[in-house]
Amino acid sequence: MKQFYLETFGCQMNVVDSERIVALLEEIGYRQTDSAEQADLILLNTCSVRDKAERKVIGHLGRFKPLKDARPELIIGVGGCVAQQEGAAFLDRIPYLDLVFGTHNIHRLPEMVAKVERDRQRCHAVDFLDRETRLRLFPKRSDTDSVTRFVTVMQGCDNFCSYCIVPHVRGREVSRPSGEILAEIRELAAAGVREVTLIGQNVNSYGLGTEGEVSFAGLLRQVAAVEGIERIRFTTSHPKDLSDELIDCFGELDKLCHHLQLPLQSGSDRILRRMNRGYSADDYLRRVERLKKVCPDIRLTTDIIVGFPGETEEDFRATLEMVERVRYADAYTFLYSPRPGTAAAELEDDTPAEVKQERFDRLLEVQNAISEQTWQADVGRVLPVLVEGRSRQGRGQLFGRTTWNRIVNFAGDESLIGRIVDVRVVRSFRNSQLGERVAGDGDAGASVSFG
Ligand code: SAH
Ligand code: SF4
Ligand code: F3S
Repeated sequence: MKQFYLETFGCQMNVVDSERIVALLEEIGYRQTDSAEQADLILLNTCSVRDKAERKVIGHLGRFKPLKDARPELIIGVGGCVAQQEGAAFLDRIPYLDLVFGTHNIHRLPEMVAKVERDRQRCHAVDFLDRETRLRLFPKRSDTDSVTRFVTVMQGCDNFCSYCIVPHVRGREVSRPSGEILAEIRELAAAGVREVTLIGQNVNSYGLGTEGEVSFAGLLRQVAAVEGIERIRFTTSHPKDLSDELIDCFGELDKLCHHLQLPLQSGSDRILRRMNRGYSADDYLRRVERLKKVCPDIRLTTDIIVGFPGETEEDFRATLEMVERVRYADAYTFLYSPRPGTAAAELEDDTPAEVKQERFDRLLEVQNAISEQTWQADVGRVLPVLVEGRSRQGRGQLFGRTTWNRIVNFAGDESLIGRIVDVRVVRSFRNSQLGERVAGDGDAGASVSFG
């Protein structure tokens, strides 16, 4: 049997796209392998959001060149956002690359692979599809043995934040019909899924611009009514589209986890304007206050960009101040880098790299301290954990997540997988927590805590 090797970079969209790639390749007789050396087909599903993404992909592909030299029949392909951005030019730049497929062309992969196999002809497909075709091809998968699943509810982005490549490589926003989303979630629940994460570049604008469609808050209420689904998460939220109706869902819907990823990007109004974000620091804070009012134990995480063109020390201090006021449980911090074709790439940028790096380090220090305090506060507390599977730590350990999306490892029997159980947190680390199960989650059989 022919084998393929696939590496995935980037966000949840690419994770879901990669699942689709796997399914499509299996249909044409390929089996997945985790060894590039053994593979007949090597694919990279790429992300272009970071600095020098193109060069990094080329560097990464270089690792496979000796394999191609030794076995010319090996097929090498690049998909995802870098592929979308580079198109046919990538074939010119990388002589040993066979295929390039963009973000709207995953469904064409089987045909493209067959073409390379048959004619030894290199090919590419990076055209954007129309709305109807995209809706027809929306990623969906209900055959699963996992407890948690991503469900794509919308694709693309219309926001054009001035620094961001995503709208250029993913195309315009389309919302999937709510009837189809619910049908998929019902199937997932029947297959044993207990938690769904609704995903899209900006889920808060779900349904806007589609006549007769429910709002995102309306969609959440419908998902919450699906029997068998016990937890709901969603990502990513744009603060400008976080409506009061949506915020209030955190107070109303028991199944909605008490965690929200709410990208701030900057705490300075001047920079937010230059970023084309559509909200001020005050607008953002008002939403945070309402969130904390309707759901007092909600934890927020965020994305922040340091060193945007024209950012002054004062602008940066405004960001630090927001971080201290909101007290994020975690933050993903990025040094600004110009992305080709975006509006910000045209802006003058005279802040020296060392100054940006120094700001970045200061931000990290402040945030790390807050994160540490947040997580240490969990130690000793008993928290409901949805058990997702066997832990990578081995030794009879299971793992699951708290409502705040923190991973907890604890000893327990596999029969608990798929259930919400009470776990006392005994230690807190950077990326996970260690716990022990306690009685009181309604399970008559086991009441021991494991050491
Ligand atoms: N749709 C999501 C994710 C966008 S990309 C959202 O709107 O939140 C993820 C993060 O990468 C962004 O939130 C931003 O913080 C960061 N990012 C995007 N473009 C960047 C750039 N040019 N330089 C530095 N960070 C960037
Ligand atoms: Fe990029 Fe802004 Fe769209 Fe997020 S909302 S994907 S940051 S353009
Ligand atoms: Fe990256 Fe594309 Fe996602 S650029 S963040 S993989 S939409």
